Amino acid sequence: MANKVTVLGSLNVDTILRISRLPKPGETMPMSDQDKAGGGKGANQAIAAARCGAETSFIGKIGADENGKMMCRLLQESGVDLTQVTQSDKGTGQAFILLQDSGENSILIYGGANQTITADDILKAKAEITEADFLVTQCETPLMPAAKAFSLAKEHGVITILNPAPAKQLPQELLEQTDIITPNETEAELLTGVKVDNRSSQHEAAVKLQALGVKNVIITLGSAGSFYRFGSKEGFVPAFKVHAIDTTAAGDTFLGALSSKLKRDFSNIEEALVFASGASSIAVQKLGAIPSIPTKDMVEAIL
Ligand code: ATP
Ligand code: RIB
Repeated sequence: MANKVTVLGSLNVDTILRISRLPKPGETMPMSDQDKAGGGKGANQAIAAARCGAETSFIGKIGADENGKMMCRLLQESGVDLTQVTQSDKGTGQAFILLQDSGENSILIYGGANQTITADDILKAKAEITEADFLVTQCETPLMPAAKAFSLAKEHGVITILNPAPAKQLPQELLEQTDIITPNETEAELLTGVKVDNRSSQHEAAVKLQALGVKNVIITLGSAGSFYRFGSKEGFVPAFKVHAIDTTAAGDTFLGALSSKLKRDFSNIEEALVFASGASSIAVQKLGAIPSIPTKDMVEAIL
């Protein structure tokens, strides 16, 4: 049976500005191209879960504008349930992605409607939260409503997954109700103070995250792969070797795919991590966030 995944999170329209390098202060320079694509960490993770086979619902906010309509259409096309996507008096979120020829990106965010999610929205979405197998969130929407959603989820035996991105300090009440946290190396360092650059520092950061209250940890390591510590069991799954052209949403695709595959007792954690790595290795080979997210069939074809 398909996993039921509910994502509480952000919806952004991404404007991708393709540049040879970042401009210096005061410098004017040409772009080589520009593109527009659906994105936002929440939307990317929900679409990855849905395309990989999960029964997926979304809790979020859009503005009364064309960008909001575009985001709803994209989620609907991938089969995501939008009952709890409501309208705000702020504009739909946007991201401006400076994508350099090297593949590196720098992102500016307009939070807009994403920042207007309240505890009341969480109460209205009680059914979507309590009937899920997994509740997933990130840090592009307010964190106190997220903590409330996690608390409701835990009361009903739902597994909570926190993607602590973009990197910021997290409230204790959120950490304590997190079953799985999925930082990248930078986020793990911000949360623990441990510079994550080898296996022993991955172990040390994961142990510190557990001491902060989270139960299980996955640290994503970009093109190197991912490290996990579930309880006291640890392991490493290498990334697939591919030529990356745009890593935007690599982490989101990884997490969405993982939530579609992971069993509630975590007994298939390594298999789920290989599946997630395969999904994100496909995503990094294509430009844009939502356009790059693969389906389950595409992932299975490369495994
Ligand atoms: P982003 O913020 O760019 O969405 P992230 O920093 O949250 O990503 P990463 O650790 O960069 O997350 O990547 C997540 C996973 O995606 C990695 O664990 C790996 O499996 C896969 N991945 C990322 N970059 C590459 C790459 N260049 N080649 C192959 N796989 C990759
Ligand atoms: O994680 C990638 C996403 O971060 C982009 O789609 C952009 O919208 C930003 O939120």
